[in-house]
Amino acid sequence: MCGIVGYLGPQNPKDIIIQGLKKLEYRGYDSAGLAVFDQNTVKRVRAEGKLKNLEEKIKGETFTGHLGIGHTRWATHGVPSENNAHPHQAGKISLVHNGIIENYLEIREELKAAGAKIQSDTDSELVAHLVSQLYEQSQDLLGSVQKILSRLRGAFSILVIANDRPDELVAFKDGPPLVVGLGEKQNFVVSDVQAALAHTKNFVYLEDREIVAIKGADVKFYNSLGETINKPVITLNWSSEQIEKQGYSHFMLKEIYEQPGSLAATLAPHIVTLRARSEVQLFKVGFGSQPQQLESLNAEADWAQTQKILVQFEKIYIVACGTSFYAGSIGKYFIEQLAQISCEIDIASEFRYRQPVLNSKTLVLTISQSGETADTLAAIRLAKEKGAHTLSICNVKNSTIDREAHGHLYLNAGPEVGVASTKAFTSMVTLLNLFALALAKSRKLLSSQTEEEHIHALQQLPAQIEVVLGYDKYFAKAAEQLKAFKGFLYMGRGVNFPVAMEGALKLKELAYYHAEGYAAGEMKHGPLALIDEKMAIVMIVPDDNLFEKSVSNLEEAKARGGKIISVGTGENARLKSISDRYLSIPKAHWSTNPILATVPLQLMAFHLADSLGYDVDQPRNLAKSVTVE
Ligand code: M6R
Repeated sequence: MCGIVGYLGPQNPKDIIIQGLKKLEYRGYDSAGLAVFDQNTVKRVRAEGKLKNLEEKIKGETFTGHLGIGHTRWATHGVPSENNAHPHQAGKISLVHNGIIENYLEIREELKAAGAKIQSDTDSELVAHLVSQLYEQSQDLLGSVQKILSRLRGAFSILVIANDRPDELVAFKDGPPLVVGLGEKQNFVVSDVQAALAHTKNFVYLEDREIVAIKGADVKFYNSLGETINKPVITLNWSSEQIEKQGYSHFMLKEIYEQPGSLAATLAPHIVTLRARSEVQLFKVGFGSQPQQLESLNAEADWAQTQKILVQFEKIYIVACGTSFYAGSIGKYFIEQLAQISCEIDIASEFRYRQPVLNSKTLVLTISQSGETADTLAAIRLAKEKGAHTLSICNVKNSTIDREAHGHLYLNAGPEVGVASTKAFTSMVTLLNLFALALAKSRKLLSSQTEEEHIHALQQLPAQIEVVLGYDKYFAKAAEQLKAFKGFLYMGRGVNFPVAMEGALKLKELAYYHAEGYAAGEMKHGPLALIDEKMAIVMIVPDDNLFEKSVSNLEEAKARGGKIISVGTGENARLKSISDRYLSIPKAHWSTNPILATVPLQLMAFHLADSLGYDVDQPRNLAKSVTVE
């Protein structure tokens, strides 16, 4: 989705803005622009396409001022074009906007009737006109913004400057995130901390309908009633180096390679060694209203308290989107098998409109890498309204979902920049495994043998992933031949069925192939008709209790001419003899097979897309964090 960077300080705003927008490129966009003070007025430059087009256009331009706003646009209203690119201007006002103004038609009509000259097809420009009308009368930028806030419906984060106020920036939001970075005599307003992380680690997260007004070095926050408020300053420990490619050709490849480390970081806080034996304890799950409160609890009290809370749930809903939904689908198997609690898995955009049965005995567990996905956030709000407990699994601490859920678990996977989610997925599956164990333990359903087996399997994962990373070289070569297929049918059973869906999603979003993920047992109910020699069958068939059944499905596909790529355990001679390509994963536990099987599929999608010349880190039409419905 759109990226926003605002800067007020002694450095050249143009450089800070371009640098910041580059850090947000991963979010996906189709045009870019900036408005920066120069000689006591605002100079605006916009360009369709990538940031390099904008950079080309501003070469040789001078910007002498100290205030500026910049934007990368992901089109919603109006085609991607220079004219629809931000910043938008009306009168003395320049503004950038992320999100959607739902009542834009009504506002447009009203503005037209009042004689406003509307230049673009966007909903964003209309907000500039509204602010401009009020600013002309009052010459009060903050007051004008406060007045128009009640007029706007939808999801938005907006930065506003006026061309006769070279040291004043006002910003507000309702929905998409907006964060204020506090630096030494300089301040930033960004849609994602990554845009300002090179300059400061201290951030203030705006809540919905709050406003920040920055005048010179003075930063003030206001609530929706116009009262000044104090906001907590959060100091982040992410470094700006973590969001560099560090020698890899792509962020996605780097993130695939980071998985041994990211999984170890996911596990570390929750496995403790007591009396020479390892145990699962879920720390910092809490169920306080503020994550900060939880930090002050000591580990043992925290775990005892957590168990008391976990034991009361009679029903669990896991709610998420995309890759996080597939991770959650694996979690359902873990929870039902280990903790014997009925668990439903829902796509967040469906959950919020289907009137699920929720009450105080229900836990709604949301999963989100970014913590900003609009539908997932709406699910949390709905669950809270209906009196259910909410627990979030997020990678980004202090994200909106993290802040709004009652309880919190963190992936600790480090920043994920590639639009295609990789290390977040494997960390999610790992954390769900731990969560199901903790749930089972709190209900006294976990034998120490099962606990030990799971922990042992999880602790082996980092080393086992190092082994499957060897498929990087394999697919760098194989991609050339795989390109010839017209489609890919991914299949699996049990916990490996969601792996099939995740594998297919990676291929769709990166290499733009038609790929489907299916439960292998469903093959005869339709998809078998698709199979011919142009169709690749990617079957996840590790050595588990469903092995024989999966092999039968594989034989059926082969008999119809399908070309078989199978993912199996070790050197399985039987699988090898049926398969055209065989991908071997190390012998593992049923609960960790899905993680090991996912890694070669990530590499396959990466190399197919790369060999076709596609932009792997920023696939077409996609955004990293989907902050609107
Ligand atoms: O940040 P989230 O985990 O909430 O994002 C959910 C999906 O948008 C995301 O997983 C998406 O499907 C990815 N592009 C998949 O690679």
